[in-house]
Amino acid sequence: MQAYSLRMSNTGSAVRQRWESLASSLREHNHLYYVLDRPRISDREYDQLFRALQDLESVHPELRTSDSPTQRVGGVPLDGLEKFAHPTPMLSLENSYEAGEIRDWDARLRKLLGEDAPEVIQFLVEPKLDGIAMELIYENGILEVGVTRGDGEVGQLVTTNVRTIRNIPLRLICGHESPPTRIAIRGEVVLPQDGFAALNLRREGEGLEPYVNPRNATGGLVRNLDSRIAAAAPLRFYAHSAGIAEGLSYDSQSDFMSRARDWGFETAEGIASCSGIAEVLEQLDVIERRRPDYPYEIDGAVVKVDDIALQEELGFRSRAPRWAMAYKYAAEQARAKLLAIDIQVGRTGVLTPVARLEPTFVGGVVISNATLHNEEEIERKDVRVGDVVIIQRAGDVIPQVVSSVPDLRSGVEQPFAFPTHCPECGTEVVQTQGEVAVRCPNSSGCPAQVRTAIQHFVSRSAMDIDGLGDKLVEQLLSEGLISSVADIFFLDEKRDALIGLERMAEKSVDNLLAAIEARRSAETHRVLFGLGIRHVGETSARRLMKHFVSWSAFAEASQEDLEECEDVGPIVAKAIRDWFAREANPALIERMREGGVVFPDVEVAQVAEDSPFSGKTVVVTGTLEQMGRKEAKEAIEAAGGKASGSVSAKTDFLVAGSKAGSKLTKAQALGVTVLGEADFLRLLGR
Ligand code: IVH
Repeated sequence: MQAYSLRMSNTGSAVRQRWESLASSLREHNHLYYVLDRPRISDREYDQLFRALQDLESVHPELRTSDSPTQRVGGVPLDGLEKFAHPTPMLSLENSYEAGEIRDWDARLRKLLGEDAPEVIQFLVEPKLDGIAMELIYENGILEVGVTRGDGEVGQLVTTNVRTIRNIPLRLICGHESPPTRIAIRGEVVLPQDGFAALNLRREGEGLEPYVNPRNATGGLVRNLDSRIAAAAPLRFYAHSAGIAEGLSYDSQSDFMSRARDWGFETAEGIASCSGIAEVLEQLDVIERRRPDYPYEIDGAVVKVDDIALQEELGFRSRAPRWAMAYKYAAEQARAKLLAIDIQVGRTGVLTPVARLEPTFVGGVVISNATLHNEEEIERKDVRVGDVVIIQRAGDVIPQVVSSVPDLRSGVEQPFAFPTHCPECGTEVVQTQGEVAVRCPNSSGCPAQVRTAIQHFVSRSAMDIDGLGDKLVEQLLSEGLISSVADIFFLDEKRDALIGLERMAEKSVDNLLAAIEARRSAETHRVLFGLGIRHVGETSARRLMKHFVSWSAFAEASQEDLEECEDVGPIVAKAIRDWFAREANPALIERMREGGVVFPDVEVAQVAEDSPFSGKTVVVTGTLEQMGRKEAKEAIEAAGGKASGSVSAKTDFLVAGSKAGSKLTKAQALGVTVLGEADFLRLLGR
C-alpha cells in the first residue's frame, strides 16, 4: 500500500472514482450501441460523457489507461494519437547530484579518451527544463512531424498540437542557404509559470479541475485530441539537441545551438560555455541560484562535452551518452502543518506512520501526505501532531518529513503514541529484535494485509492482470467473492455475481475473465514474486526460477539448495523455507493449480543450447557502444556462456570494442576468434 499521496502520481480516490464511473458507463453505452444496437442515450449525451472523461484525463493523465474509452471508438483504437518511430532513438541522461560526481565524471572522460583528451575539455552547461520532451522533424526546412519521446524508440504523433506552439518555426529561417534535407530538432515543451496560473484560473472559472503542475498540464495539452485546447495555452518550445541530421554537419554542441537559434528556435536562458570542470561547477551554481527567477520550471542542469568529435569517441552506455551528464538540484523543501499521523498497514504487515499535512505546494506539486517511516524516526525528528514540519520532495521519490520546527510550537502539540495494536485488525503488534519496523503478525487474517497482498499479486510487475485494479480487489473482497489470491482463478464460476457488482457491466466482466484466463499461464517467476514472500523481490524471483527451472524443484529445495542460487543468502533461503512450512501456503498453491494456474517451466536451457555462446568462454575488452560491461556479461551468461576477465588458451571468443589493447594482442597471438561489436550483437540475436 502506498504510504503517501502526491496529487500528481497518486490521484485522489474521489477523482479515480469519477474516472471509473465515467469509463464504465461509456463502456456500457459503447456495448449497447455497437454490439447490441440498442442505444439508451442520445449521441449528444454520449458526447458529453466522452468529453467529460477526456477532460478528466487531460488533468490526470495517469488515469488514462490504454483501454480507456477515450482511446477507443466502439472498440477500435482511436488513431487520434498515432505512434511514430523516432528516426534515431531519444536517449536519456545519466544523473548526478553532487559536485564530486561531476568531478568523477570528468576524470572518467579523461581516462576513456586517453591520449586524445585535450588539456582542457570544453563543456556546454544548459539548464535542464522540466517539461515534455519533443522531437520536431523538418524536411527541407518545413516542419512535418512533432512526436513525443514516448519510450525513446516510439512516441506519439502530436504534429497538429505542436504547430500551435508559437515559438516553433513552421519553416526554418535559412536566408540564402538551403535548409538541411532532414533534421530532427529535439527539445522540451514547457508551460511557463504565469501561463500555468492563468490557465488554471480560467479552468476553475469554467468549473474544470485545475492542473496539478506545469509539467502535467503540458503533457495533457500536447496530447489533447482537440488542438484548439493546446492552441489556447501559452506553451513554449526550447531546443536542446539534434536527432537525425541529413545534409548538415556541425563541430560542436554550441555550434549546433547557435544554428538552431539562427533557424528561429529559442534556447533556454543561462547556457554557458565552460573551459574545464571547475568552470562547469561554477555555472551549475549560477543556474541553481537563478532557478527561482526562471519563467519555467527547471530541475537541474545538463553538462555536455562540446566537441562533437570527442562526443563520438566517447559514445554511449546503455541508454545514455557518456558525453553528457544531468546534474539534479537538491530536493525542494517547504514548511507545512502536520494535522495528524495515520498508520497504514502494508502488505508485509509493517505499520507505517503517515503525516497528514495541510495541502502545501512543494517542488511543483501539492502534497498532503508524507511518510514518517517508523516510530524511531518520529522520535528522532521530535515530530508532534500540530507541529509545523519541514517536508521535502526529490524527483519522484516519496515526499518525506525532514524535521519539526520546535520554535513555532504553541504548546498544544501532542507527542504521537505509536499503537500497540494493529489499527486494522486489533492484533497486538510485534517488533523483531534489531529491526525498527513494527508489524502486525496476523498475515492471513488482517484485512489490510490480505487486501494489499492480493493487490500486489495482480499488479503490473507481478501477475499483471488487466482490469483488476485496487478498487475492484476491494470490492471483490467486501462482497466475499474472493478471500485469497487463488480465488481469483475461480471467479469464472461467479460470473453472475460479478455482473451484479457496482460499475461492472457484462462486457467488463467478460474482459476481466478473459484477462484472468490469459494470465493463468503467466511466467512462474511472476507468480513467485506475486506471492510476496519476504525478501523475494522481482529480480530474485527471476533468478530463483531460472536456477530451479520448475516450480516443484523450487518448492522442494532445501535451505542449502536455495543458497546455491546466485545472490540467495541464508536469510532469503530461510524466508522461503518458512513460507512453505506454513500449512496454508502449499494448500494455496494447490488451489491455484486447481484454478488452472500453469506454473510453466523456465525454458532457459533451450535458449542457451541454441546460442553460439553456449558452453563457451568469452572475454570482453575495449569499449562497446551499445552496452556496458555488466550488460555484456549478463548477455553472455544468458546465452549459456561463461564471461571471463582474462584471455588464455581456453578462451573461445574475444569481443573487442574500440580501444582494445593488450587482450586483443594476446588473443590474436593465441589464435582466439575475435568478434567486433556488431558480430557480437548479431550472434546474440540482437
Ligand atoms: S540533452 C542524449 N539537454 O532531459 C541526451 N536534455 O533525461 C539528449 N532535457 O527528457 C538530451 N533539458 O528532453 C538535454 N538541456 C537539455 C535538457 C534535456 C531537459 C530532458 C530531455 C529528456 C531528459 C533526458
